[in-house]
Amino acid sequence: MEEDYKIPTHVGIILDGNGRWAKEKGLIRSAGHKAGYEALRKLVRYINDKGVKVLSVYAFSTENFKRSEEEVSYLMNLFLKVFKKDLAEFNDNNVKVLFSGRKEPLADDVWEAMQEMEKTTENNTGLILNICLNYGGQAEIVDATKKIVDKVLNGEISKEEINEELFRQNLYKDLPPMDLMIRTSGEVRISNFMLYEIAYAEMYFPKTYFPDFDEKEFDIAIDVYNKRDRRFGGIKNK
Ligand code: FPP
Repeated sequence: MEEDYKIPTHVGIILDGNGRWAKEKGLIRSAGHKAGYEALRKLVRYINDKGVKVLSVYAFSTENFKRSEEEVSYLMNLFLKVFKKDLAEFNDNNVKVLFSGRKEPLADDVWEAMQEMEKTTENNTGLILNICLNYGGQAEIVDATKKIVDKVLNGEISKEEINEELFRQNLYKDLPPMDLMIRTSGEVRISNFMLYEIAYAEMYFPKTYFPDFDEKEFDIAIDVYNKRDRRFGGIKNK
């Protein structure tokens, strides 16, 4: 490996294409979500070993509640099952699990399993897996603004102290800015994913459906990232 080969600190993935993956195989959509989760599970282990610090995944947007009751309920049950079943595995792999998103209208049992997962893994020092669930990027900015207004009103901070860094620290989770944003399945949209965090992220849109996005595909994404010339608004340095 080249000496200056860079591993991004924070990678985000929009897990897209589960439905199309299933359809092409003559399966129901739920089978695609199940396969998507299995792909994610493998990827988490691999990405943890690679030394990425934070992986944010878009598991369920606030808008996804508009899908059929059958699909929403399948996904909620899948979340509940894997949060309980795979908690020990994440913990054994030293993965710290965080959740970003709003509580309402999530069911109490799903919310409690999420709290439990965060609590059990809070002292882990490996990969931070930030699961965006019932999440919207604009909602996150609104909620951070409310948090900051409260802090100003109760005298914790002054208006003058508000800057980009303080704002970032008041998002759902205090995470480093995103370096690489991947959306699988060929769709070229952000769809309300981590709007504040992606300000200077490199974007990569592979055609692969998420259930087929494996270790090899991830390595290609890192190669693509390494070929990009990140300037953060400054001048070209080569
Ligand atoms: C988008 O594909 C995918 C989702 C709405 C669900 C993603 C969830 C998982 C992969 C499970 C993750 C599990 C955990 C525990 C984080 P789509 O259904 O919109 O696909 P399509 O565009 O091909 O229809």
